[in-house]
Amino acid sequence: MTIGIIGAGAIGTALARRFTASGQTVLLSNSRGPETLHATATRFGQGLVPATVQESAAADVVILAVPWHRLKEAVASTGITDWAGRIVIDTTNPLGPPDFKVADLGGRTSSEVVADLVPGGRLVKAFNTLTPPVLGADPRPDGKRRVIFLSGDHHSANAEVARLAQRAGWAPIDLGPLTDGGRLQQFPGGPLPTLNLLREG
Ligand SMILES: NC(=O)c1ccc[n+]([C@@H]2O[C@H](COP(=O)([O-])OP(=O)(O)OC[C@H]3O[C@@H](n4cnc5c(N)ncnc54)[C@H](OP(=O)(O)O)[C@@H]3O)[C@@H](O)[C@H]2O)c1
Repeated sequence: MTIGIIGAGAIGTALARRFTASGQTVLLSNSRGPETLHATATRFGQGLVPATVQESAAADVVILAVPWHRLKEAVASTGITDWAGRIVIDTTNPLGPPDFKVADLGGRTSSEVVADLVPGGRLVKAFNTLTPPVLGADPRPDGKRRVIFLSGDHHSANAEVARLAQRAGWAPIDLGPLTDGGRLQQFPGGPLPTLNLLREG
């Protein structure tokens, strides 16, 4: 299975580190082109492939890891208009540079808004509650497993992402649909962001 990560910043590279460490191939991209990611690839080893946004978007599972204000443009640049049941993982939070103003979501959860950007896709919100250093760290410290939360409206996609997370060493917890689970994960406002939990075994 290949994983495409759109966004090669703090969150994108933390996830790339964990997924390549568990033997997955990661196609990592930013808006400036694969040639700007060669140094990162050298650091991470052969599982990390510098890619264009379009190549990342063609992977088996696609992860969105760009700032909120650049999300629309990033998804548009994939050129995909029908995501045809494909799994898209949303790591984003609805604020960020340049001004850290929280976006007006019209009462919806941020991932419900993101789901509209990938019509036909099966969107799963995940990996948005931990800081990059914690997310990129060993998910099995002292034989325990770090908890990551996920939610989404497609049970099969949630299960697939949970399996992927489990293979990478985390202990996934499926919170259910975006309206409820997404709200628990929402930053700012939800109770789960920054919670760094370890589960036995
Ligand atoms: N940092 C945190 O503590 C944290 C925690 C949880 C969730 N998050 C969320 O995760 C997302 C990423 O945050 P981050 O901290 O990783 O941000 P970041 O360090 O600023 O990295 C953002 C990345 O996105 C790329 N990018 C921007 N526009 C793009 C486009 N149109 N196409 C492709 N790539 C593009 C940037 O590269 P170029 O500009 O060179 O293209 C950069 O590699 C945000 O939505 C944030 O809210 C952050």
